[in-house]
Amino acid sequence: MSGGYDERHEPGSGSEGRSSTHVEDHAPRPPRQRGAGWGDRMDEGLMDLRGTGRVGPGHGPGSGSNGAAPTYDDVLAEARRKRAASGMPATNLPPPPAPPAKPAAPKVDAAAARNVPPGPTGRPMPVIPEPPTLDHHGPARVVSMCNQKGGVGKTTTTINLGAALAEYGRKVLLVDFDPQGSLSVGLGMNPHQMDLTIYNLLMQRDVTLHDVVVPSGIEGMDLLPSNIDLSAAEVQLVHEVAREQTLQRVLAPALPHYDVVLIDCQPSLGLLTVNALTASDGVIVPLECEYFALRGVALLKNTIDKVSERLNPRLEIDGVLGTMFDGRTLHGREVMARLVEAWGDTVFHTVIRRTVKFSDSTVAGEPITTYASSSSGAVAYRQLAKEVVARWSAE
Ligand SMILES: Nc1ncnc2c1ncn2[C@@H]1O[C@H](COP(=O)(O)OP(=O)(O)OP(=O)(O)O)[C@@H](O)[C@H]1O
Ligand SMILES: [Mg+2]
Repeated sequence: MSGGYDERHEPGSGSEGRSSTHVEDHAPRPPRQRGAGWGDRMDEGLMDLRGTGRVGPGHGPGSGSNGAAPTYDDVLAEARRKRAASGMPATNLPPPPAPPAKPAAPKVDAAAARNVPPGPTGRPMPVIPEPPTLDHHGPARVVSMCNQKGGVGKTTTTINLGAALAEYGRKVLLVDFDPQGSLSVGLGMNPHQMDLTIYNLLMQRDVTLHDVVVPSGIEGMDLLPSNIDLSAAEVQLVHEVAREQTLQRVLAPALPHYDVVLIDCQPSLGLLTVNALTASDGVIVPLECEYFALRGVALLKNTIDKVSERLNPRLEIDGVLGTMFDGRTLHGREVMARLVEAWGDTVFHTVIRRTVKFSDSTVAGEPITTYASSSSGAVAYRQLAKEVVARWSAE
């Protein structure tokens, strides 16, 4: 299915709004309301940021008194009130599910109580423990780096978080699941000289993981490479049985041998991304700290929720990572504040600041942790590695 569904959700939201999702959904939908959900709060926050203040008399929730049609919630509440008043006997149906929980409010932690100065996200910066040493490897936690917006730092985060985790003694498998092949190129591979790629693993039953996995050049970290061939898989998989579970099936034999599998997704919410989410235990959402980067995140959240409801109940959001942050600008700080307001403690305390060293390390074909080992970017990704390990062990 194409455009129709998304246009209902993100009218006029730019290219993200036109991307397709392969989670089938034919159920009738209530009309969209402002102020009802997570995405709306984010959008309202954005409008406030711009100073246009869409939320106000006659525009916000509950403004139906000005003669506008009653909202879906009004109709539902009225129907429930009438039903309760009618004394209708109880049915055998289970009670209706509780309304979805609101995003957790940022916790006031011990650090705040001790007057610890705020970190770059505006919250007190906790002390993040060193990852414990492992005495065995596996089974792996599978994590997708996902955002349908392009150029937000998915590939950079996959390479550098993977390399930092490998420094902490984790066995890491990076999966290049983007036909652009940026992850493979970023680790020094030539896209035209790959014998076998993840495309062969997905589409040919006689190709095994062992045939395709290559060393990444970093000790403890391997790579499943990709190139433009993978774009054909998106079309061919449509005709496969259990098309959304294909990546999960081919990755299964790798899980006992690694501690972490990081999947670098392409900038879309198509079938390849749904495959990545279906194969994953967690999602990390890199978000560039810029106004436009916040648009369309509601659609991403919606896709993650659908995959978790219909295909993969294990799936959870491990965290939202602010990237290309510039704390010297008011804009950067305001976008970060909106991010924390909308996502609460899901936002990592670690943020990745904007620095040209990342582009330099891509040209060099290696992670920043080895290219410029003591640079602020390398330090930040090591801190992110500590923070994700701490979050995973807390789950
Ligand atoms: N913190 C940063 N500071 C400066 N430049 C950065 C930073 N992070 C990433 N970049 C640069 O931004 C560009 C886009 O980054 P990257 O390729 O990681 O994004 P992406 O989300 O994977 O993009 P795509 O959606 O196309 O796959 C790259 O040139 C990268 O070197
Ligand atoms: Mg990328």
